Amino acid sequence: MTLAERIAGRRVLICAGSGGVGKTTTSAALAMGLAARGARVAVVTIDPAKRLADSLGLDALDNEPRLVDPQRFTDHGIEIAGELWAMMLDPKHTFDDLVAQLSPDERSRDDILGNRIYQQLSSAVAGSQEFTAIAKLYELDRSGRFDVLVLDTPPSRNALDFLDAPDRLTSFFEGRALRIFLAPTGLAARVMGRGTGIAFGVLERVTGVDLLRDLSVFFRALGGLVDGFRERAASVKALLADPATTFLVVTSPEREPVEEAIFFAGKLAEAGMPFGGLIVNRVTPRDGLDAEPEAVAAELRDELGEALADKVAAAYRDARLLADRDAASVARLRSETGDDAPVLVPQLGGDVHDVDGLMRVHQHLFGNTRAP
Ligand SMILES: Nc1ncnc2c1ncn2[C@@H]1O[C@H](COP(=O)(O)OP(=O)(O)O)[C@@H](O)[C@H]1O
Ligand SMILES: [Mg+2]
Repeated sequence: MTLAERIAGRRVLICAGSGGVGKTTTSAALAMGLAARGARVAVVTIDPAKRLADSLGLDALDNEPRLVDPQRFTDHGIEIAGELWAMMLDPKHTFDDLVAQLSPDERSRDDILGNRIYQQLSSAVAGSQEFTAIAKLYELDRSGRFDVLVLDTPPSRNALDFLDAPDRLTSFFEGRALRIFLAPTGLAARVMGRGTGIAFGVLERVTGVDLLRDLSVFFRALGGLVDGFRERAASVKALLADPATTFLVVTSPEREPVEEAIFFAGKLAEAGMPFGGLIVNRVTPRDGLDAEPEAVAAELRDELGEALADKVAAAYRDARLLADRDAASVARLRSETGDDAPVLVPQLGGDVHDVDGLMRVHQHLFGNTRAP
């Protein structure tokens, strides 16, 4: 089955995998290909390389998808029959938007967003990126503005952090620490008690920070958000397991990413999440490397002289070893994940940060067929 067939009819495509294997590049090329074929597509990128961001006209500031000017592609020979929207995820901004949406009224929203304790906490939560990425995905999905969403995933050391993110946030909100704070006789209440009140009063005079007020506002406002958060985390988690969602596991042929891809595909299956297939990026093809290195050296010796011919033959031997290693990686990935026809994208020479680079990756993802 081709990649196009595998993702046909899917509304949410999540490109997961180790850092540096080409998730961001793949996400952008995939989104471009689907938009070229007529879909309204939004791609949510995370930490795109600056040059890629520039070539898509991405702006970090608004945290909303922007329509990519189709002219950028027309100039490179591809017509966008649908629409390509792209955004760069801003985790802190996404988390603030979520709090604003879940706040029961404007006053509690302003109380919490302006609260110093919230600001510390939200930076920490947003810092994990995984939850905010899926929360944003959920929001875009609900907006109904797009036929397909493509999500690039954070450069986490472990791709699994991503699957656990909604549960981690829920358990934070349901966790002991927060319950102790929020209970009627809990720490928050006791902090408000008289003795501590006086202590905090002294603190305020010394430091100028009204910590007591910050704490009480924070806990009161947060109390109103707990249920909303729990529900949202559950919906977000449900979106990951939805039949309209599929995970594409991106990897390079190197040993560590390959092992992580195998592990991740296994975890997806275990968690009942949809596995759409493997994309093996930066593969050195074996084609054209059939001749033995010695034969290559022998053939070149007359023309190049011995020293140079040997150098060329050595480079040729290295490429062959790399191609053999890559072929072994692909074979291992096939047998361990059950995907017997992974999509292979070769190691491309030159820059893949620009529209031309995306075009080349796109051609390998979708086969050499041109978009209509
Ligand atoms: N097929 C390819 N050939 C050559 N370079 C590639 C290829 N795919 C990705 N790259 C380059 O590899 C680097 C990492 O790619 P990126 O998409 O940012 O990975 P990730 O998002 O997984 O960290 C980038 O510099 C990108 O331009
Ligand atoms: Mg990336």
